[in-house]
Amino acid sequence: MLEVRAVTRMFGQKAAVDRISFAVDGPAFVGIIGRSGAGKSTFLRMMNRLTEATKGEILVDGRDILALKGAEARAWQSQCAMIFQQFNLVPRMDVASNVLHGLLNRRSSLQTLFNLWPRADILRALDILNRLGIAEQAPKRAEALSGGQQQRVAIARALMQDPRIILADEPIASLDPMNAQIVMDTLKRINVEDGRMVIANLHTLDTARRYCDRIIGMRDGRIVFDGNPSQLTTGVARDIYGADADFSEAATSTSIDAIGRSDAADAVIRAAQAAI
Ligand SMILES: Nc1ncnc2c1ncn2[C@@H]1O[C@H](COP(=O)(O)OP(=O)(O)O)[C@@H](O)[C@H]1O
Ligand SMILES: [Mg+2]
Repeated sequence: MLEVRAVTRMFGQKAAVDRISFAVDGPAFVGIIGRSGAGKSTFLRMMNRLTEATKGEILVDGRDILALKGAEARAWQSQCAMIFQQFNLVPRMDVASNVLHGLLNRRSSLQTLFNLWPRADILRALDILNRLGIAEQAPKRAEALSGGQQQRVAIARALMQDPRIILADEPIASLDPMNAQIVMDTLKRINVEDGRMVIANLHTLDTARRYCDRIIGMRDGRIVFDGNPSQLTTGVARDIYGADADFSEAATSTSIDAIGRSDAADAVIRAAQAAI
């Protein structure tokens, strides 16, 4: 389905992404881990054509999406929706309209100007919000929601595009552990239930281990690990993050696992979701 071939991005003399190659067969949940500056965001941005690659190919079902131009490139962008650490919602706009903006690529500027949405689209947006447990937030301004809720709105907006791939750039880096877990569980559900591939840049090992089928470790623009969670040993992690004397797994932990292991905490999360 996805084949990345020797993709490189130079910034001046520096290779932010340096000849990376990997292939993914089915709709896997892929995690990319590595230190700040390793090239994770640059890679995701090349995937959805926000940043041009310097060299290489990204084949999706045999078609090089880096070579697409104009309308075809835009069509590809709506096939791979992007989710960001800072949610990138329109803060003063209501939640439902934020979700409907996932369709912007397909609408005329006149429709957008008057905020005219076909009824069927509005119903779909509400269905998606309902699926993510936040239907009751639909009329509120995005800025009135908690971070975890805002990230779910961003996921709803992504789903509105009906994308094949969801690209998530540090989706839980701004969230507390409980909201981080809700957002990761949401992404995992979309991956498993809808069969959409998810590629997520993650800053912590425990999250990658817990949610990903496949983990890619980057360092200085290169892939230094590519395997499944059980292969990601502490030694390998040291390789990915650098062999600093003070390396510790705790430093790259969000403690999601600590929550996940506790049935009591799970019950709290369910209650919180029900109350939303
Ligand atoms: N627009 C840019 N101009 C110059 N250098 C950049 C730009 N974007 C990223 N870089 C550099 O590329 C490298 C990789 O950055 P990035 O992809 O943001 O890493 P990560 O997401 O893993 O933290 C870093 O050294 C960063 O400084
Ligand atoms: Mg980044």
